[in-house]
Amino acid sequence: MPEVTVVDHPLVQHKLTIMRRKETPTGKFRQLLRETSLLLGYEVTRDLPLGTQRIETPLAEMDAPLLEGKKLVFISILRAGNGLLEGMLDLVPSARVGHIGLYRDPRTLIAVEYYFKVPDELADRPIVVVDPMLATANSAVAAVQRVKEAGGRHIKFVCLLAAPEGIAAFHEAHPDVQIVTAAIDERLNEHGYIVPGLGDAGDRLYGTK
Ligand code: PRP
Ligand code: URA
Repeated sequence: MPEVTVVDHPLVQHKLTIMRRKETPTGKFRQLLRETSLLLGYEVTRDLPLGTQRIETPLAEMDAPLLEGKKLVFISILRAGNGLLEGMLDLVPSARVGHIGLYRDPRTLIAVEYYFKVPDELADRPIVVVDPMLATANSAVAAVQRVKEAGGRHIKFVCLLAAPEGIAAFHEAHPDVQIVTAAIDERLNEHGYIVPGLGDAGDRLYGTK
């Protein structure tokens, strides 16, 4: 079973603490999420397939490592996923990008889909689904299900914060999908929010509350 990878790098943990603070303003939050996603992206891409190519440096010929295979796909769960997507694209500018529009019904916490657009030939591509929050996991489970229905097979999920309840539900639904996160928090509250968490990621990112 793929494990949960917690990225405990000091820079990730430092930036996460500043994002958690309730007084951190929107612009700062957005910048920190982008910076953090570079570091999470580094971790989630560490087993991308490498081949070699014969090249010439100014001094000699060598067989040098290069990524091989079909281009990586990032799939962002709208809207807060876009906060992670930006940094991931800084790291892998040639990646393809998909978007899945989902919002949580505030009463039932069920994920409601309003948009779906992903690149073709998903079966042959490494896929990274991104969303800062894994709370009940209803959104992530639904998103990964849709990606699988569209042909995706080699899928990883990256978030900033995960609740233990969300990890359990996600693993039950998608035991083949590795989770990479910056932290696992204590629990969910009665409204399905991660505690201590950082609040509503979309609102913090875009200043909508
Ligand atoms: C947030 C977050 C996740 C979801 C996580 O999105 O970005 O997508 O909640 O919760 P879950 O694990 O319980 O499904 P939200 O529904 O608030 O939509 P938004 O990104 O458009 O603000
Ligand atoms: N979605 C968020 O944005 N924050 C939470 O704590 C839970 C779900």
